[in-house]
Amino acid sequence: MPDRSDVLAALDALRDPKTGRGLVEAGLVQGLVVAEDRAGFVLEVAAADAAAYAPVRDAAEAALRALPGMTRVSVVLTTESPASPRPRTAGLSPEAQRQGRPQAPRATERPAHVRRVLAVASGKGGVGKSTVAVNLALALKARGLSVGLLDADVHGPSIPTMLGIGGQPEYRDDALQPKIAHGLKAMSVGLLMKADDAMIWRGPMASQALTQMLTQTAWGTEDQPLDVLVVDLPPGTGDVQLTLIQKTPLDGAVIVSTPQEVALADARRAHTLFQRVEVPTLGLIENMSGPVFGEGGTAREAERLGAPFLGALPLDAAIRRGGDDGRPVVAADPGGDVAKAFAAIAEQVAGALERA
Ligand SMILES: Nc1ncnc2c1ncn2[C@@H]1O[C@H](COP(=O)(O)OP(=O)(O)OP(=O)(O)O)[C@@H](O)[C@H]1O
Ligand SMILES: [Mg+2]
Repeated sequence: MPDRSDVLAALDALRDPKTGRGLVEAGLVQGLVVAEDRAGFVLEVAAADAAAYAPVRDAAEAALRALPGMTRVSVVLTTESPASPRPRTAGLSPEAQRQGRPQAPRATERPAHVRRVLAVASGKGGVGKSTVAVNLALALKARGLSVGLLDADVHGPSIPTMLGIGGQPEYRDDALQPKIAHGLKAMSVGLLMKADDAMIWRGPMASQALTQMLTQTAWGTEDQPLDVLVVDLPPGTGDVQLTLIQKTPLDGAVIVSTPQEVALADARRAHTLFQRVEVPTLGLIENMSGPVFGEGGTAREAERLGAPFLGALPLDAAIRRGGDDGRPVVAADPGGDVAKAFAAIAEQVAGALERA
């Protein structure tokens, strides 16, 4: 069996494209786990570099898998969460200023013909928010609800790929027509812009795009309102999150984390943001749970925060493949274990939204 030093040597033989140094020397290998036939680590890069490092992640996985006796391997590419926005307190009451509340004239009405709005959030990037948003939306739909999915990740939209949709949405009857995929109504800035444009949007434009998708999409009709709009947020606690909070009442948030402490610390921050704006955290979900990265950390964190723990999803190659191929695992294998895990989470979420 290879030991830790073999693993480190294999990883350091790969070059960091930015600095030209070995991955280990460049400080890119974090949270390395080596145990018997398993190895995994977190490759943490700046948010702007995420796409450039995807091939590095793949090469690192291949290098680990090539070590004799190594059977379970995983490298997770995560991004540093962008800094929290500057506290904007001008114009607030002294009381609100003391509490450091964001300047948020809160919306009182949901988008037209939408009954409930659910945010899927995380502190850290790359922990599986979009994967959870898509599959949770499908699991809610499987309960007989009509469900929409809004990709609010205006800087790095991934929902079109995950659902296998593309092409400009139609503008008809004064509204953007959502794309229908696997029975979900979906809207993403990735559909509105050419591939690379979205990445360079500045704050105000990004917020404007989000507002437009939220309020000008034909999510439902008078006769057939949308039961739940699932919003896939970008990582962190920045402008887009604040825009969303200002533009629609949120009926709840689910927070996705991986079991590692670095991710849990960010999950805590996301929970705090929602608490501050009085959005109930419906619960925490542990993603990529299992022997490589550990398990149980998120459940313990939920208990500390006094929030429900909704369930754990395994680190599973089929989950990643489903996202890459546009056939999310809940749709591709509705009877499988992962779909069952999502069904159990959806049951709790649907119950909480019903009570909201
Ligand atoms: N349980 C899992 N098992 C295996 N791979 C997973 C799992 N969950 C997510 N992934 C993969 O990890 C990568 C990141 O997932 P995803 O895009 O859902 O994260 P995210 O939190 O939305 O990222 P971002 O912060 O960039 O929006 C994707 O390649 C996805 O397929
Ligand atoms: Mg995402």
